[in-house]
Amino acid sequence: MSDNKKREGFGSKFGIIAAAAGSAVGLGNIYRFPCELGNNGGGAFLLVYLLIVLCLGVPVMLSELVIGRRTQKTTVGAFRTLKPKSGWPLVGYLGVFCAFIIMAFYSTVSGWTLEYIVKAIGNDFQGKDLEAIQQEFTLFHESGWRNIIWQAVFVFLTGFVIFKGVANGIEKYSKVLMPLLLLILIVLAVKSLTLPDSSKGLVFLFKPDFSKITGKVLISALGQVFFSLSMGMGVLITYGSYTPKDNNLASTALSVTLSDTLVAVLAGVVIFPAAFSFGVQPNEGMGLVFSTLPMIFNQMAGGYFFCIIFFILLAVAALTSTISLLEVVVAYLVEELKLSRRWATVWAALGCMAVGAFASYSLQTGSPFHIGKLSFFDCLDFVSAKIMLPIGAFFIVIFLGWIMGKTTFFDEITNEGKLKLSVKGVIFFIIKYLAPLAIAVIFISGFLS
Ligand code: PHE
Repeated sequence: MSDNKKREGFGSKFGIIAAAAGSAVGLGNIYRFPCELGNNGGGAFLLVYLLIVLCLGVPVMLSELVIGRRTQKTTVGAFRTLKPKSGWPLVGYLGVFCAFIIMAFYSTVSGWTLEYIVKAIGNDFQGKDLEAIQQEFTLFHESGWRNIIWQAVFVFLTGFVIFKGVANGIEKYSKVLMPLLLLILIVLAVKSLTLPDSSKGLVFLFKPDFSKITGKVLISALGQVFFSLSMGMGVLITYGSYTPKDNNLASTALSVTLSDTLVAVLAGVVIFPAAFSFGVQPNEGMGLVFSTLPMIFNQMAGGYFFCIIFFILLAVAALTSTISLLEVVVAYLVEELKLSRRWATVWAALGCMAVGAFASYSLQTGSPFHIGKLSFFDCLDFVSAKIMLPIGAFFIVIFLGWIMGKTTFFDEITNEGKLKLSVKGVIFFIIKYLAPLAIAVIFISGFLS
C-alpha cells in the first residue's frame, strides 16, 4: 500500500474547511476572545486583533497547510522530511508540546460547558438575578473535583472521536453543527442588541481608545489571533497533511480565517451589549461569559430551549477544537513513536487528564498550584498563547519563506500550476519578510513594556 493510501484523509472540500474551521472556532472565540478583549481595553484590542488577522491570518495559515500537504507528514515529521539532519524538527516538538498544554487547560473550560448543559436542562438559571448566577459560577469553578470530573469526561469524549479516525470522526460532526452555532449566535446577538443600554456595550467593543494600545494589548491580541485560528503549533500542518492534492489551499485558509473572525466578533456583539445592560464588568474575566449568557437566556422567549441548545453547541465547538489538539499529539505518537492509534489515543488522553486536573484544581481559592499570582491554569494559558504560539508561528513562516522557498510554495498553492492565483507573489512576500518581522516586533515590544 502506498504511503498516501495508508494515511487518513479528508473526504471533501467542505470536509477540510469544516474540520479546520471546527478546530479554529471554539472556546477561543466565544470564551477567551471576550475575556481578552474585556481585559485589554475593548475597542483598542479589537482593532489590533483585526489588523493582525488581516495581515497574518491567511499567510501563516497557508504556510502551515502547505508544509503539511507537501510532506504528507504531521508536525515533527514534516520538518524532518523537508530539512533532514537539522534543528527544524524542534519546531515540530514545540508544537506537539504546546498542543498538549493547551489541551490540559482548554479541557477545563470545555468541561464547564458540560456542567452548563446539565444546569440548563435542570432550568437552573430561571428567575435568578445576576448576583446569584455569578455566585453559582464561582462556586462551581472553584469546586476542584467537579471541574476535574467534567474535564475527564470531555477528554474521554475527545479520545473517542479521535479513535474513530479522521474522516469518520471529525468531518461528520463539524459539517452540520458549526453552521448551527453561527445561527444561534445571530439570534443571541439580535436579542442582546435589543436590551436596555446595550449601546454602551457596542461603544466599548467598537470604539477604539488609542491610548489603550500598549505592549500588553499587542501581545495579547497576537496570542489571541494565533490561539483562535489554531495556528503556530501544528494543528494545520497535521490537517494539511490530510488534505487532498486538488484542494485550493488559499481559499481554504481564507474561508477558515473569515469564519473564525466572524464568530469571534459576533460573540463580542452577543456578550458586551448584554454585559453592559446587566451590569457585568467587562473585565470580569472567567465569569464574563458564563454569567452574561444565562442572563440573556433568562430574558428570552424560549430561553430555556435556546440555553440548552446553545451550551450543547458550545460543547461541540469545544470538542472539534480539542479533537484537533489531541490529534496533533496522537499523530506524533503514531507516526514518530510507532504506537498504534488506539494506544496513542489512550496515552495522550491520560496525560492530558493528569496535567489538566492540576489546571482545574488550581482555580480553587487557596490551592497551592500557583506560580506567583498566576494559577497553574493561567500559567498554561499564558505560556502557550503568548509565548509558544508566536514563537512557533515565527519559525513556521521563516521555514516556509527561507527554507522551502518560493518555487515549492507556488507549486503547492497552485496545485502544480493548475490554479491561477494572482496574489501569490504578495502572499509569499508577506510570509518571507513581513510576517516574521511583525511577529518579532510585537513579541519583543510586548515583553519589554
Ligand atoms: N482555536 C481554538 C479555539 O479558538 C483553540 C485551539 C488553539 C485549537 C490551538 C487548536 C490549537 O477555541
